[in-house]
Amino acid sequence: MPEDLSVSWAPGVQVLFGEATLAARVAELGAQITVDYAGLPLTVLCVLKGAALFAADLVRAISLPLQLEFLGVASYGDGTTSSGEVRITSDTGTPLHDRDVLVVEDIVDTGLTLRFLLQALAARGCRSVRTCALLDKPSRRVEPVTVDYTGFEVEDRFLVGYGLDHDERWRNLRFVGVLEAAPPVR
Ligand code: IMP
Ligand code: MG
Repeated sequence: MPEDLSVSWAPGVQVLFGEATLAARVAELGAQITVDYAGLPLTVLCVLKGAALFAADLVRAISLPLQLEFLGVASYGDGTTSSGEVRITSDTGTPLHDRDVLVVEDIVDTGLTLRFLLQALAARGCRSVRTCALLDKPSRRVEPVTVDYTGFEVEDRFLVGYGLDHDERWRNLRFVGVLEAAPPVR
């Protein structure tokens, strides 16, 4: 059965991972995380804004007691690429001390954002920190960060939808798609 196709209100976006594909992979990741974190004080740390939709589905695929926290980050860029200078714009509501923290990201590209996050978390006394990203673009990596749980490896194309944006648009697409005429700004 064909999956959902592009939508009329987003004509420049080609479907890469449709709703059913995303749901099936999120279910698999949730099942694996459920096994790995059984009996542990799990905190799912959603990195805003991009991971919001993925994290909302992922936590419902994890059959364990857990805490859900949100961390807002912004990165300064030089206009064409991420500078790697990241800052926290909105912090978690509760301390992460003694928690097993699973950082949930939308996409790992250069790895600079995740490297910053892992360094920022290192000082907080977490029991453990692991990472989960819906999408991984390994060919673009600058910082050799480990992604413990990956939804899909992707090529170097600019993706939008299911939380990912270009200039704050397209986050509400139900699928992940390729933005045609890919922009240089990330
Ligand atoms: P990194 O610091 O280069 O790994 O970039 C991570 C962040 O860049 C992600 O959390 C996204 O916000 C953004 N990003 C990287 N690639 C894409 C993409 O293809 N589409 C939308 N956002 C992206
Ligand atoms: Mg973004």
